[in-house]
Amino acid sequence: MTLLEKAELIKNEFEADRQAAIDGGKPEAIEALRVTYLGRKGKVTALMEDLRSASKEDRPAAGKSVNMVRSHIDGAIDGLKALALKWELAAIINREAVDITLPVDEGHQVGSLHPVSLIRQQLMKVFRSLGFTVMDGPEIDFDFFNFSALNMPDNHPARDMQDTFYVETAEKMLLRTHTSNIQIHTMLNQQPPLRIIAPGRVFRVDNDMTHTPMFHQIEGFIVDEGITFAHLKGTIDTFLRAIFGPTLKSRFRPSFFPFVEPGAEFDVECGMCKGKGCRTCKSTGWIEIGGCGMIHPAVFEAVGYDSSRYSGFAFGFGMDRIAMNRFALPDLRQLFEGDYEFLGHFPTRGN
Ligand code: PHE
Repeated sequence: MTLLEKAELIKNEFEADRQAAIDGGKPEAIEALRVTYLGRKGKVTALMEDLRSASKEDRPAAGKSVNMVRSHIDGAIDGLKALALKWELAAIINREAVDITLPVDEGHQVGSLHPVSLIRQQLMKVFRSLGFTVMDGPEIDFDFFNFSALNMPDNHPARDMQDTFYVETAEKMLLRTHTSNIQIHTMLNQQPPLRIIAPGRVFRVDNDMTHTPMFHQIEGFIVDEGITFAHLKGTIDTFLRAIFGPTLKSRFRPSFFPFVEPGAEFDVECGMCKGKGCRTCKSTGWIEIGGCGMIHPAVFEAVGYDSSRYSGFAFGFGMDRIAMNRFALPDLRQLFEGDYEFLGHFPTRGN
């Protein structure tokens, strides 16, 4: 076989192998092809060796065709390498593809807001729109702020109304029993006019269907010249409508708190039975939301305000009670048990 024929044969072989590699679609077959033809012991390399032993007369023609075959295969292999790269890329893209039409993995649930957080957010929005400033105060506090300055001196019988967790400290400290301590902290630091709203945790030795040892209150108060009970009623009315809608029935009942005069308790129609009477409202048809009234002159005196010039109202409502009534929950304790199933029913955001 002449060199020319040999070159022709190798070229044909290569064409067949090339087609097979393309059809096979495997990048590693292309590298194998390169080794078979252009490698150190490859077919083209052998052909070049043969060329060296060719006779002087044959060499120019044979050299030309061998070189043509070599550069043809060289070029073809380059093209195949580019193809192999494409295949590899396609494989990666295929492997890492995200199918956005697949259903969301049920295992990853979006969290929801706690019912009390929802109510707090709504309340903050309403009171901000009425021009109230949000305040905070300590949960562990001195007796003075929680009791004495609120017209409940030592041994005052009204202290028994709130079973208190005391803290063993040299100076008498306690877990605040209500958010009314924020009234005293604020009034000692600021001068009237005041328009304050203060949500927070409070603590009492209590536990049944409508009481838990820790619960949430929202304290609100205004101090200015000429504040009357009508302002209190108007404010409560506005927030009630915002939370419960315009049709919910509510009522004031005369009541006693040492730090207000006159004082009242505030009830709303039971959300469970719509006022008909049930276990939750102890058959009364009403749910007590909290206390309110006109700030007692003794409180103003304790903080150094002129009680002949200023008047004010205050209220302290249970946010858990509001949440309970708003979402028709029969048992207040549901709010504190951290039951995933129960909490998952509430929306993921407030307003
Ligand atoms: N602090 C009272 C309570 O927790 C509620 C209240 C607040 C009453 C403000 C009157 C005025 O029971």
